Amino acid sequence: MLKVGILGLGTVGGGVIKILRERSRDFKNIVGEEIQLVKVMSRRDHRLAELGIDRSLYTDSFEEFLNEPMDILVEAIGGEAPADVVKRALEKGYKVVTANKALLATQSDELMGSEYGEALFFEASCCGGIPIVSSFEEGLMSNKIEQLLGIFNGTCNYILTEMSKGGVSFDEVLKVAQELGYAEADPTFDIEGIDATHKLCLLGSLAFREKVDFSKIPVEGITGLNPEDFAWAAENDHVIKLISMAERHGSELFAATFPCLLPSNHPMAHVNGANNAVFVRGEYTGDLMFYGAGAGELPTASAVVSDILAAAQGKVRHWSHHIFREPTFAKLSAEKPFSYYLRLKAKDEAGVLAKLCDSFGKRDISLCFVHQNPAPQGLADIIFTTHPTSSAELMEALNEMAEQGWVSGKPFMMRMLEI
Ligand SMILES: NC(=O)c1ccc[n+]([C@@H]2O[C@H](COP(=O)([O-])OP(=O)(O)OC[C@H]3O[C@@H](n4cnc5c(N)ncnc54)[C@H](OP(=O)(O)O)[C@@H]3O)[C@@H](O)[C@H]2O)c1
Repeated sequence: MLKVGILGLGTVGGGVIKILRERSRDFKNIVGEEIQLVKVMSRRDHRLAELGIDRSLYTDSFEEFLNEPMDILVEAIGGEAPADVVKRALEKGYKVVTANKALLATQSDELMGSEYGEALFFEASCCGGIPIVSSFEEGLMSNKIEQLLGIFNGTCNYILTEMSKGGVSFDEVLKVAQELGYAEADPTFDIEGIDATHKLCLLGSLAFREKVDFSKIPVEGITGLNPEDFAWAAENDHVIKLISMAERHGSELFAATFPCLLPSNHPMAHVNGANNAVFVRGEYTGDLMFYGAGAGELPTASAVVSDILAAAQGKVRHWSHHIFREPTFAKLSAEKPFSYYLRLKAKDEAGVLAKLCDSFGKRDISLCFVHQNPAPQGLADIIFTTHPTSSAELMEALNEMAEQGWVSGKPFMMRMLEI
């Protein structure tokens, strides 16, 4: 008998109980023994009847929960509250399965890197139902990963997909996303790219086998985008996505999260709505893409239950433990040339456009596209795209334009990814 305890009876915890019950016979065949739920803990007991849990298994006390002998502890509470229980459970020799990205983002060294870190399973914490952690731990072990691209945040992807349909502002779509439950009341973590970057650091560390340090990663969110950018993208066969990227450059790694323009025939361009996707370029595999639901009751519970089965079969998370135990930090490169999309407001006067072009030209920034919209208040909306250039040179040119008073307000710049 394999004893399992579950912390948290919300969306994920409830889904885990449903799958364990529904497939109990199959799982007995896989694991070789019956999986038995021996304890559940949550703040309130209101879901016991609905989930068919015997009241004798319930507690609202972390201490009482930990005192119950078990083989595998599932943590589906979220946030920092269960941190101590997870650590103590690992020390007691329990295997621990968690879906808690917030906890791993701040405590990966203490948890995965601890003496017992091999026994911590966290598939559900990145991209819900997509089996990406186990792919880096097992299926992609033979490869040297060259590039990792992620659409890691379903909230942002939903907002960008809706804005691409045209005619709606960021604020309007965000409000609808909140009403539909796709976005939190305080959406900062999602829309500013922080959640996506946490996942980039975790998966980037596994993919490149060196710790990717969150504090050193440039992060841009999606709040600066406006309907004009989506109109330009649609007219020019591009789509806008929030991309988290890590790419090997010799002994260095370029890593960042940013909104960017993708050609519409890029595989990641077709990832719509609240879905997630991970694009991996491996030395031997070539290009791979993982796509699917990054959240939701059953997709996330599927990842948790697969971790339970992996733990029950005696597997360990060797690489996660190794990478975070005595971390070697990835050396991050400050710069990678990209083509850029620029949107700015310039004085609608003779010679200004020439001055802007000259400012780019002086810095060897080669332009690819220039478009000027009508200027009702003496300020023309101009869109440029460039050939690959450094962001430092581009910033220098934009600073000169601001200092000389040729442009008004803060220009918006966005990277463009090639296939
Ligand atoms: N939902 C998803 O699609 C998804 C996807 C990927 C990862 N995750 C991660 O999975 C974890 C759980 O998410 P969820 O969506 O299932 O959350 P949820 O629906 O809010 O459920 C949380 C559960 O934990 C309990 N709980 C919260 N704080 C507690 C505390 N201090 N002490 C005791 N019990 C407490 C809640 O009890 P009450 O109901 O009584 O408050 C509830 O049973 C989080 O780490 C989340 O980031 C979720």
